[in-house]
Amino acid sequence: MGHVITDKKDIKFKLTDLPVMQKPNSVLMVRPTYFSVDYVINPHMEGNVGKVDKEKAMMEWEKVKSAFELAGVDVHVIDGEEGLPDMVFCANQSLPYYSEEGGKEVLMSIMNSKHRKDEVQHVERWYMENGYEIHHLNYKKIDNFEGMGDAIWHSGRKLLWGGYGFRSSLDAYDFVSDKWDVPVIALELNDPAFYHLDTCFCMLNQDSVLIYPKAFTQNGVDIIKSLFKNVIEADEYEAKELFACNATCPNGKHVIIQRGAEKVNQQLKDAGFEVIEVDTSQFLLSGGSVFCMKMMVW
Ligand code: ARG
Repeated sequence: MGHVITDKKDIKFKLTDLPVMQKPNSVLMVRPTYFSVDYVINPHMEGNVGKVDKEKAMMEWEKVKSAFELAGVDVHVIDGEEGLPDMVFCANQSLPYYSEEGGKEVLMSIMNSKHRKDEVQHVERWYMENGYEIHHLNYKKIDNFEGMGDAIWHSGRKLLWGGYGFRSSLDAYDFVSDKWDVPVIALELNDPAFYHLDTCFCMLNQDSVLIYPKAFTQNGVDIIKSLFKNVIEADEYEAKELFACNATCPNGKHVIIQRGAEKVNQQLKDAGFEVIEVDTSQFLLSGGSVFCMKMMVW
């Protein structure tokens, strides 16, 4: 049986006690043909309806894709769907999992907003075609769960970090924890500008994380600091305006990040990471950046 931890005093393990999880070696991306800001479901989208420059968005997306390739990651691409402008943020529709015994599995999301619910079935099709065992949450019992927007695997270990409060409910983590027999550390999010865990928490490697501390409760910050040796902190400007914590480190070495987060970049370099800067200006209009634009898959 797994369990969901919400308090620091309930952490009774060391990271090295936890089973190893094979790291994913590729990403899935959704082509932004139909990407736009058509509605407002997070504070970053306010005032941006109709403002996306589609050609620019496509160019930026191509460069993000190239950045993954540069980092040695295989990229799978599926087409977006007309009428689903946020489908490009494919961190959100699912949470994949891998085990030596069971192979590839995935839990599909229950999107919080009605505007995004139909995205899930299109992403699910890719998993079906790629040999995943597919699980669904009971939507009668669980209101919402937005996949890897909120649920982030610890690098190389069977431990899940789960954000809740805006887009995912705490109950979803009971299901995940039981299903895959993994502990889940549930972190309450308390600032609507940081509505997903991936907006304020970036897993860098087994010992290192980049966070925006004010998006968490003090208890949450204490838990994070108790399990990671290196905690890099972003300031408000870089976290909120540049989505610095929505960076991604696909291989433990390269960090792909929105351009301009100078203070974070310096700290990353000092810690031995290689920074790859990209421009995601059009996606920032929708409240998303690099991490949200891909799903790590096995
Ligand atoms: N406009 C999208 C939404 O509000 C952006 C999602 C960004 N994804 C993420 N994982 N943070 O749902």
